[in-house]
Amino acid sequence: MATASSHLAPVWFKVTDLQVSHGKGSWIYTTDGQEYLDFTAGIAVVSTGHSHPHVVAAIQRQAERFIHAQVNCYTHDQLEPLAARLAEITPAGIDSFFYANSGAEITEAAVKLAKQATKRPHVIVFSGSFHGRTHLAMAMTTSKTSYRAGHSPLPAGVFVAPFPDPVAPDQEAEIDAALFGFSHLLKSMTAPDETAAAILEPVLGEGGYIPAPPRFIQGVVEMCRQHGILFIADEVQSGFGRTGRMFAVEHYGIEPDIICMAKGIASGFPFAALGAPRELMAKWPTGSHGGTYGGNAIGCAAALATIEVMTADGFMDNVNARGEQLRAGLRDLQSDAANGIVDVRGLGLMNGIQFADPGRVAAVAKHCFDESHLILMNAGTYGTTLRLMPPLVVTADEVDTALAAIGSALKATG
Ligand SMILES: Cc1ncc(COP(=O)(O)O)c(C=O)c1O
Repeated sequence: MATASSHLAPVWFKVTDLQVSHGKGSWIYTTDGQEYLDFTAGIAVVSTGHSHPHVVAAIQRQAERFIHAQVNCYTHDQLEPLAARLAEITPAGIDSFFYANSGAEITEAAVKLAKQATKRPHVIVFSGSFHGRTHLAMAMTTSKTSYRAGHSPLPAGVFVAPFPDPVAPDQEAEIDAALFGFSHLLKSMTAPDETAAAILEPVLGEGGYIPAPPRFIQGVVEMCRQHGILFIADEVQSGFGRTGRMFAVEHYGIEPDIICMAKGIASGFPFAALGAPRELMAKWPTGSHGGTYGGNAIGCAAALATIEVMTADGFMDNVNARGEQLRAGLRDLQSDAANGIVDVRGLGLMNGIQFADPGRVAAVAKHCFDESHLILMNAGTYGTTLRLMPPLVVTADEVDTALAAIGSALKATG
């Protein structure tokens, strides 16, 4: 908790007031000797677990050679190897990469590229979206008014299409209505030849941990293709193994024109990347975008080490097995009506539990924290979803520990 004597800005909201000393795997340790099971993973970032030894060693080695070998001034030897590796693991057709430092920077960069490539001014986002906190990213963010309030005027040229509600009683009708909403926007507010791109999170993150229904996402991509609108997949949260595939779009059989990556890409070292086909990337005029730190040498080394860990045998099997274990346990809890769970959903280790009442979410999270030392966060416009985003190296025992904690919290707060 920030005290009156603190020199820190009070603008950060706090999930906990824990003073931490170090982390290892799925656990964090406090300065007063307590341990906590971290089902936030630093907001879906430390996918290889806290301070994975392979990533730590890569960072240490690189720090001794170069901390900052600025990309405009020189070319360091981690840039191309990382791009080559990303070309291997990103969806087909994506083979050229730009680097930055954070999710907001990379979603903004994607829109700048789309505007340059299409010479069109507008962008379409989806309700519940979260693309970051800088001004354009904020204009593209519709998950909560609290992110936007007090910051107007926001950049213009952003149009909002509907995203299907996962608990609507008739899912097919909900998807039809959302697809109609997209086509209606193109008729009523932003003509196709004014629309550079549509940017979508394949699994809505801050908006409530909602996997897009396949027919919806495929329909959006189809309409984009019909109209020459670029389809940008914002995989800042859903990417890098979080959903049990390297990228969530792989669940849908779609190929984005531009893919945005950050969070899990470098195990916690601030790093972000944008990928696109070479021909598209070639339309970005040299010098029209950049940044002092993009392509930071330590960040590249951390990302390469992260990819090595994630592509090792068994890594993704664990993500899928632990995800299934978690959802099975949560569905058991849902089957007891007294627990008040409206929906359990997710892919891999990106899972949400929706309740009717945000008060219940807060009470369950507090009980888990106080009584079981399990750290959880909420999500959703109405704060009604509890999200579970453990490190991807979480073990079966740790998942059982979390399920037991949630079970006790549901009993105690019912
Ligand atoms: C889907 C998505 N895009 C972009 C961002 C912004 O990332 P950053 O906080 O690194 O700017 C986030 C952050 O939560 C996100 O979930």
